[in-house]
Amino acid sequence: MRQEREVDQAQGVGGVVRPHRILVASEALPVERARLLVLPRELVRQGEVVQAHGVAMDNGAQYADFLSVWAVALCHEQLNLSETRMMPIMAEANIDYAAVRRYWDEAAAQAFSASYMAHEQGLPDDCVRYRFEKERAAVDAWFASAREHESVLDLGCGAGTWPIHFASQFSRVVGVEQSGKMVEAARSRLAALANVEIINADVVAIDLDERFDCILLGGLLMYLNRGDVVAVLRRLPALLKPGGRIVLRESTVRRGVEPKTGSYQVVYRSSAEYTTIIGESGLALERVELNAGYAAMEMAVAIIDALRTLPVLRSREPSIVGRPVWRALRAAEPLGFKIVPGLLERLGVAWPHLQNHFFLVRDQA
Ligand SMILES: C[S@@+](CC[C@H](N)C(=O)[O-])C[C@H]1O[C@@H](n2cnc3c(N)ncnc32)[C@H](O)[C@@H]1O
Repeated sequence: MRQEREVDQAQGVGGVVRPHRILVASEALPVERARLLVLPRELVRQGEVVQAHGVAMDNGAQYADFLSVWAVALCHEQLNLSETRMMPIMAEANIDYAAVRRYWDEAAAQAFSASYMAHEQGLPDDCVRYRFEKERAAVDAWFASAREHESVLDLGCGAGTWPIHFASQFSRVVGVEQSGKMVEAARSRLAALANVEIINADVVAIDLDERFDCILLGGLLMYLNRGDVVAVLRRLPALLKPGGRIVLRESTVRRGVEPKTGSYQVVYRSSAEYTTIIGESGLALERVELNAGYAAMEMAVAIIDALRTLPVLRSREPSIVGRPVWRALRAAEPLGFKIVPGLLERLGVAWPHLQNHFFLVRDQA
């Protein structure tokens, strides 16, 4: 069955997509069931009448399956198009890079836990070590080779946690970090390691005249606007030796894109959106893996944030809540970190809200 209707003055929500008039044409769409029409980005142009082939879904659970979704038309049960609204779900924020730098300069006072975003909830060093140990196993497996002769580049290296680890495995380690205060923290932690160099620079503007066997971008792309993410990724092949490996580690949401404004500016993208971006950047995505270490930490973060909404705990030092919560979760392992989240996922409960993924990427050439 083919349905064609014209939607006048479809309204943009969030100010990114404001299609004026949209002709929705959807084939094979059981209209009675239609609630959402997913419109591919390239078919939605601001201020134009466009013809879009929508994909009907009963609920929003499968957004992530559509790689270049730009807008969702929320339709009434019976496709009552007068009630259709356009809702941009890939709304990208315009990150204020000065605010990002300010945040990390201030966070450097707690450099070790801040690099791993454990500082705001007062999580103990054991939590950072736990997460790092899990991540190390994943990254080591993907970087595996005769590494003693190899070099590694760590973009957005923070307080130097990864350069310290890499120093015993690679012959040369270069870290790049924009926050002067984080660089100071990293350099003082790395002072005794002769094969590590930390460069104070913005990855968006950096020009390195060297090639590496491995490149890590650990929690960096979420602080960059989409255009800069693509620009940074497009420059990676020029920094990579033939056969080199790139690993990205990014905090993710299950679907769409969620920008955060304020003093902590960040864009959480879904792993599907990163897949699209990696493709657009001309790189080949080999593997995607959920970050189990991050999942454990994020569970603690979600519980602590909920507890700290209680008036009695709100004004207390974060570690007063953070430490016992982490200890309790560790003591209840594997119930806390594996069994409960596995059950929730199966029940379709998206908790905790944030996830984190590793992406193994190579140059197409
Ligand atoms: C979440 S921390 C991760 C640090 C480190 N990769 C780790 O895994 O421990 C993100 C780091 O990226 C840095 N960063 C953000 N934008 C950057 C940019 N444009 N250039 C260089 N570093 C940047 C921040 O200053 C911060 O230290």
